[in-house]
Amino acid sequence: QGSSNCDARRFLSSPSTTISLAVRAKVNAELTDQDSDNDCRVSVIVPTYCEAKNLPILVPRICEAFEEGGLTGEIIIVDDDSPDQTLAVCDELAARYPVRLEIRQGERGLSSAVIHGMRMARGQVLLVMDADLSHPAHKIPELVGALSDKNTDFVIGSRYVPGGGTDENWGFFRWLNSKVATGLARPLTSARDPMAGFFALRRESFQSANALDPVGYKIGLELIVKCRCRNIHEVPIYFSDRLHGESKLSLKEQLNYLRHLKRLYEFKLGVWAQPVMFGLIGLSGVVVDLTVLSLLLYAVSAYLARAVAIGCAMTWNFYWNRQLTFSKSRRRHVLHQYVLFVMSCSVGALIDMGVFSLLYANIAIFTAIPQLAAMIGILCGAVFNFLMSKYVAFK
Ligand code: GDD
Ligand code: MN
Repeated sequence: QGSSNCDARRFLSSPSTTISLAVRAKVNAELTDQDSDNDCRVSVIVPTYCEAKNLPILVPRICEAFEEGGLTGEIIIVDDDSPDQTLAVCDELAARYPVRLEIRQGERGLSSAVIHGMRMARGQVLLVMDADLSHPAHKIPELVGALSDKNTDFVIGSRYVPGGGTDENWGFFRWLNSKVATGLARPLTSARDPMAGFFALRRESFQSANALDPVGYKIGLELIVKCRCRNIHEVPIYFSDRLHGESKLSLKEQLNYLRHLKRLYEFKLGVWAQPVMFGLIGLSGVVVDLTVLSLLLYAVSAYLARAVAIGCAMTWNFYWNRQLTFSKSRRRHVLHQYVLFVMSCSVGALIDMGVFSLLYANIAIFTAIPQLAAMIGILCGAVFNFLMSKYVAFK
């Protein structure tokens, strides 16, 4: 059925081809002169993959919203070469509406499609929404309007503020999934619904972004963090189930989300990212240590149990530090790194012991509270371990 499209696409040779379909002259002409603060130029960016059936419903709705809100603007559809009728449908729509179709060939991905669209956009306000009619187009003026407050730098069409909600058809799993994903992002932003794909920001904010590299679906979250948006306004929306077609959110995307979160935390924490990660892994190592110890105490002597538990914790810490904290130096030989790591941990333990002994033997308060001396010993050992890991084992 899509064969005519495929033929048409053969003429589009460059990897990414803009088909500037009869952009309504009004859109750009009207903008230059009598611009006032409330004369907004909006670029609505709609990433699509196989949404041909939804576009003829979505586009008129967006234009109605433009009219109702007294907005002028354009609709940029960024399609990843869908094997359906998207091209033909957009062609038809462009005759009547300010639609630009941007087809990317040989590239897939929601987030990169959105960024691509933002780079093409001519509006002062960039608004992103899904094509599947999950996002209420009539809320566009409210989202755009919220940006006229100079203090607001990001607006979300939010499911999780009073008045917002999701379709009843949302299964428990999807709900839980969304909640967990949101919770993991909590320290990155105060937004209630940072996962949303319905949001708006100023063009300047987008242009100020530091090195955008989203690995998954959460382009909104990426922009909030990388554009350092602090004042986020959330407009309640009702998120409905898609009308036609199916969601492209797969398990792979969820794993990508975890990778994405790691990068965002690294960005946010800057130079502290590695020590914090190292510390957290160290804490998890303590849990491993105590668990193994408790289990082995049933089977073997306390000394042997202690020794094995320490070995397990070290190996655990090594594995996760190699995987996460120092993932950039994974190309070096693993055994070599392991030996260096274990050696520095052992020296770290000696330092811990030495500091403890010094404090305990010489200062009254530490003699009275040995735990305090132990804590300082642990801290010194950990700092030493970190430095050795960073500059020796995982150099
Ligand atoms: N260009 C392009 N390339 N567009 C894509 C791609 C892609 O690889 N994958 C998905 N899209 C488009 C879809 O066609 C749709 O318009 C929009 O991106 C959202 O895709 P869905 O597949 O409908 O995603 P969803 O409903 O599971 O997820 C939505 O809700 C989430 C919150 O629950 C999105 O808005 C997410 O961003 C949001 O996090
Ligand atoms: Mn959807």
